[in-house]
Amino acid sequence: MIDFMLNGQRRQCAVSPDTSVLELLRETLGHTGTKEGCASGDCGACTVAIGERDADGRIRYHSANGCITPAHQLHGRHLVTVEGLAEDDALHPAQAAMVACHGSQCGFCTPGIVMSLFTLHEAQRGGDTQALAPLTPQRLEAALGGNLCRCTGYRPIRDAALTMTEYPEARPQWLDAAAPESTAPLAEEPFAQPTSLTELIALRRRHPEARLVAGATDLWLEVTQRLTHFASLIDVTRVAELNAIEETTLDDSRRGWWIGAAVTYSRLEPLLETHYEAFAHLLHRLGSAQIRNRGTLGGNIANASPIGDTPPVLLALDSRLWLAGPDGERELPLEAFFLDYKRTALREGETIRAVFLPRPDPARRLKVWKLSKRREDDISAVLGAFAWRVEDGVLRDVRLAFGGMAATPRRAARAEAALEGQAPTLEAFRAARKALGEEFQPMSDVRGSADYRRLSAANLLERLRLSIAQDDTDTPREVMLHAYAH
Ligand SMILES: Cc1cc2nc3c(=O)[nH]c(=O)nc-3n(C[C@H](O)[C@H](O)[C@H](O)COP(=O)(O)OP(=O)(O)OC[C@H]3O[C@@H](n4cnc5c(N)ncnc54)[C@H](O)[C@@H]3O)c2cc1C
Ligand code: FES
Ligand code: FES
Repeated sequence: MIDFMLNGQRRQCAVSPDTSVLELLRETLGHTGTKEGCASGDCGACTVAIGERDADGRIRYHSANGCITPAHQLHGRHLVTVEGLAEDDALHPAQAAMVACHGSQCGFCTPGIVMSLFTLHEAQRGGDTQALAPLTPQRLEAALGGNLCRCTGYRPIRDAALTMTEYPEARPQWLDAAAPESTAPLAEEPFAQPTSLTELIALRRRHPEARLVAGATDLWLEVTQRLTHFASLIDVTRVAELNAIEETTLDDSRRGWWIGAAVTYSRLEPLLETHYEAFAHLLHRLGSAQIRNRGTLGGNIANASPIGDTPPVLLALDSRLWLAGPDGERELPLEAFFLDYKRTALREGETIRAVFLPRPDPARRLKVWKLSKRREDDISAVLGAFAWRVEDGVLRDVRLAFGGMAATPRRAARAEAALEGQAPTLEAFRAARKALGEEFQPMSDVRGSADYRRLSAANLLERLRLSIAQDDTDTPREVMLHAYAH
């Protein structure tokens, strides 16, 4: 039985491990305002807002795709749907602006768009002063990038977003209500929510058949696309150790951050924006706001997809994993983790506890380029992540990692060898491109043919050469700014 708030009302419902929030709303609770478009997290028609108490005790709402969010994860949370926003006849500013700007035609996408605007409006209200912060084009695009509209066109919807703060603030008081305090995490089968690593390991020992779930943005596609039935799930999102971001200052080689595997992309963003602009820029292009609010770094790595976005960057940064299981804890270089297509070095009962992100070395550069068909909410066809330093005019510690080029995210060892110790000349990069062509046999699929991938990867190396040449002509200060600009 899950116990949660729905639009200010307490609800208690029985759900099975593979019931989604969307299914619960439409099939059980008769809340049909939330729509199903794609059932795969791509269109945003099912967008809802989920509120939970943050460290300051305030309820913060994030947007989520109801179609791929397990209903169990509502336990102890506040779910807000499009039906809840208007009070009596007073529309919420997001709704009033959509009406006034003619932001809806067939209306199928509208509830999801309104809910994305609602969470944007809530985020804009910001801190204690409740002042509405100005909306930048970047924030607007980030908030709406996960909502498709087939018939209105986006200009009226953008107009609504840009003007919604001008409408009277009709905001239901119950939005500040938390879920009942009595909602202790679900303890056992078929859906367990451990809160400590010890509990998680013990649960996995007792229920070896249970699948782990974090944000469910990969796992739930097994339910909606392959009609898989999960008998039981263990949710890692409340495990304290997996939610921590710990800075380590032990010695030079270990200075950096252990990022808990259940840290979502939205939580990771501020750290990357401060220390790794190139990586932060990639995160802004990973999925949509709805996906980034729920998807985790651990899920991206454990999923071991050849086209996952973060593994090539972490490979270029020589990242390590902290694994925890019934036989204790161990560290493993990320490079040793990916064995084959979707096959990893995780042992029976083992969980990714954290991922190591080294503190940036001012002498090293990082470039990350993602090629996908759309800028927003699209998976990579090819991704290149390149790290290096220049010492006495030659390239050192060259790390070239690619996604989309092999069965796993992989470093290009031969191309790296062709560049190591060489000046960044046309000839050296020609040799590196040749080596790259020999060491990867990419596949053809809907995202790109093998030829496209081979050519694109080689072109990314050429782009790298040009950007190193560009850096050489800059002053040292400009070089640093430029290095993180992509
Ligand atoms: C619409 C859409 C767009 C997307 N866009 C992108 C994109 O641009 N780039 C990209 O890289 N990915 C993208 N994804 C894929 C997905 O969002 C990411 O891979 C995400 O990081 C998965 O994290 P999660 O927490 O949701 O994992 P889940 O779906 O919860 O889990 C994924 C797998 O990892 C396992 N797992 C989870 N946590 C752990 C752990 N701590 N230890 C061991 N195993 C664990 C689970 O058992 C499962 O097998 C997209 C997905 C969707 C639906
Ligand atoms: S139905 Fe399309 S994202 Fe959920
Ligand atoms: S109004 Fe028809 S899909 Fe957006």
